[in-house]
Amino acid sequence: MNHFERKDGQLWADGVPLAQIAAEFGTPTYVYSRATIERHYRVMDEALHGLEHLVCYAVKACSNLAILQILANLGSGFDIVSAGELRRVLLAGGDAKKIVFSGVAKRDDEIALALQAGILCFNVESAGELGRIERVAQQLGLRAPISLRVNPDVDPHTHKYIATGLKSSKFGVAFAEAESLYQRAAQSPHLQIVGVDCHIGSQILEVAPFVEAIEKMLGLCDRLKAAGIALQHLDLGGGLGIAYRDERPAAPIELGQKIVSMARAHGLHIVTEPGRVIVGNAAVMLTRVVGTKQNGDKEFVLVDAGMNDLIRPALYQAWHTIELASDPRGRERHQVDVVGPVCESGDFLAQDRELVVVGEGDLLAVSGAGAYGFAMASNYNSRPRAAEVLVDGARTTLIRARETLEDLWRGEHLLDADQLQNR
Ligand code: LLP
Repeated sequence: MNHFERKDGQLWADGVPLAQIAAEFGTPTYVYSRATIERHYRVMDEALHGLEHLVCYAVKACSNLAILQILANLGSGFDIVSAGELRRVLLAGGDAKKIVFSGVAKRDDEIALALQAGILCFNVESAGELGRIERVAQQLGLRAPISLRVNPDVDPHTHKYIATGLKSSKFGVAFAEAESLYQRAAQSPHLQIVGVDCHIGSQILEVAPFVEAIEKMLGLCDRLKAAGIALQHLDLGGGLGIAYRDERPAAPIELGQKIVSMARAHGLHIVTEPGRVIVGNAAVMLTRVVGTKQNGDKEFVLVDAGMNDLIRPALYQAWHTIELASDPRGRERHQVDVVGPVCESGDFLAQDRELVVVGEGDLLAVSGAGAYGFAMASNYNSRPRAAEVLVDGARTTLIRARETLEDLWRGEHLLDADQLQNR
């Protein structure tokens, strides 16, 4: 469910026509719907009704300050993976006590910042990292709250780049090693065990892989409890998928109630780390047609957004629906590649896609762009990153200005004349 709909043929974001947003803010522009984000957060929160729980939005999916602010305002916690994400959450008014810190290669300075901020928990990904966190906590005279991210070796049936819970992946601590590592952590005066954590992948459409992981994790929790290790929470990570095309992902309530029924008897709080399901369908990316061309049998629609703006099609062969923002009725359809200006053959938003016939100046909306869209954007080909606009009813707010050309070389330095002399 989202708030991008056609009215009299024109595509609107909530109470604003997309054409108006493009006219005011230019293209490419990411357009977010506040109502959709709030709705999705509430659905994820209410899905765990019946158990003490905390939804920690995965900041990596979309880290704009205003989006984080909206979620913090609803009481959301946050799953972070860097000092940058920590600072963003705090700037946006997020509560440090609701932050979990994931990621396989946390640096000492990031660990120190998070410790000083007083986060809920470090999701520890290896024995080495446990040692580093212990050392930094000792240096600061603090006690670090920790969970081990345990790898349950479950196949989530998703794209191989976003499956993280298989034992061949770089993530987490092997299931078999978890208990001894917990025993070690329990001995340390600078570590405080607060939970257990897993995350098996992303864009997972079925409930079954989650159930398999939950069973294994609850078994581990029971064994830890029997060994005298007290736990407060079980963090089940994120990963629930969304419909980009014709997928039929499990409903949050279906997964949520499964979690509640399985975990209820274990006396643990549940933490989840959803990203995509909250923001994925809460944004479209607007792009304008620069022109069209034909090479052999192939027809290309050339647009002003490239793989630097939305890399998912190039990186994961991802499908994003592309629609004409103005009234498409009466236009013929044909098969085209929608490609950007970047000098790579992988620079496409869609290949062999049936689209209405479009021409120079037409405005297109690329849907499902809210998660891992702007967040993965780059300046490749020296292209300023897009603007981000939030729609709230009939109101639009620029939540990130389009980068300027000067922004592109901010921090770069020309060499002095004497350094340039030919040697
Ligand atoms: N927790 C952890 C530890 C994660 O690694 C992730 C995502 C999440 C939570 C949130 O997962 P979600 O609910 O969004 O599925 N760039 C890829 C997705 C990468 C996901 C990385 N980890 C894409 O565009 O499909």
